[in-house]
Amino acid sequence: MLESPARNPLPKTMRVIEVARPGPPEVLRLGEAPVPRPGPGEVLLRVSAAGVNHADLMQRAGNYPPPPGASPILGLEAAGRIAAIGVIEPGAPAARWRVGDRVCALLSGGGYAEYCVAPAGQCLSIPDGLSASEAASIPEAILTVWANLFEPRRLHSGSIFLVQGGSSGIGAMAIQMARQFGARVAATAGTEEKCRFVLDLGAEKAINYHEDWPAELASWSKPHGIDVILDIIGGDYLSRHLELLAPQGTVVNIATLGGRHATIDLVTVMRKRLLITGSTLRSRPIAEKAALAAAAEQDLWPLFAAKRMRATVFKTFPLADAAAAHQMLESSQHMGKLVLTVEDK
Ligand SMILES: NC(=O)c1ccc[n+]([C@@H]2O[C@H](COP(=O)([O-])OP(=O)(O)OC[C@H]3O[C@@H](n4cnc5c(N)ncnc54)[C@H](OP(=O)(O)O)[C@@H]3O)[C@@H](O)[C@H]2O)c1
Repeated sequence: MLESPARNPLPKTMRVIEVARPGPPEVLRLGEAPVPRPGPGEVLLRVSAAGVNHADLMQRAGNYPPPPGASPILGLEAAGRIAAIGVIEPGAPAARWRVGDRVCALLSGGGYAEYCVAPAGQCLSIPDGLSASEAASIPEAILTVWANLFEPRRLHSGSIFLVQGGSSGIGAMAIQMARQFGARVAATAGTEEKCRFVLDLGAEKAINYHEDWPAELASWSKPHGIDVILDIIGGDYLSRHLELLAPQGTVVNIATLGGRHATIDLVTVMRKRLLITGSTLRSRPIAEKAALAAAAEQDLWPLFAAKRMRATVFKTFPLADAAAAHQMLESSQHMGKLVLTVEDK
């Protein structure tokens, strides 16, 4: 059974971005596909905007296949209006949604299209004051940071926190969230302009990673050291992170842009009782993602409404120009997020 407005029947087909074959941004092209139908516990979104993520680049290149059952279409987050609702158990938290509601959603795929299906529990209301493009830019970053720092209660008021890649989509959100929870934040970035951007987001210290960032951070955080590091680089950054960590500090790896293998001094880990951990959001069960979404919505949405946090959309591109968006993300000219606009609402 499907709830959808009878006077506004769903079309059979929609525009989507297709990956012609694994390869560079130019393999992205506009195509047509059937409009998906929401299954039990799912909603169908009429997409207004879709966030562009680093993972999309890897999937396009053939290095990050979608998990079993996920849409093969790119796109891990979107915002739009609910166009249809699948069967949802009465009383389930997701039973709050109605056709026509404006939401943003964390997806397992499918955002680069006019319509996409989302688990109802992974939909969030759009924070007051945010446009559809801004709302489409926040679920993936917010829920990744929430899952790695706040749900496990790793960051506290007064914690000393380092985020590598502070001007990335993830980094820009991590800086703001950590500041709102009272942490002292340092962030790295690759240019002076990007360093100014992370300071503007609330970082206390910005360091150009082309310079001697371990020495700068050791000096900034002494004598205590750094309590928590959110790292997207991995590789040989890990041994330097272990040196920088305070006793009982934690390094959380969420990507391996600098390599997936590392050599470390285990005695440093033992002596300081360190924790090395990490996670991936996309592979987590729907129920876990729904719980993250509910917690983040409760604690963070008032901060957007109060303008204490903001979306950081650097540039929007029409859906048909997805290749240009990928070129920009790949060349790292951006600060914050890139977004595809599908339909203005
Ligand atoms: N595990 C998970 O659940 C999860 C979820 C979401 C995202 N991620 C991962 O998190 C990463 C960031 O995602 P995103 O979409 O926000 O990507 P993004 O905007 O493309 O960011 C990539 C960032 O890496 C920075 N960087 C490159 N080389 C660096 C270095 N040597 N030292 C420090 N920073 C460096 C870049 O800085 P410059 O521009 O200044 O060069 C840029 O800010 C991606 O690898 C993504 O796959 C993981």
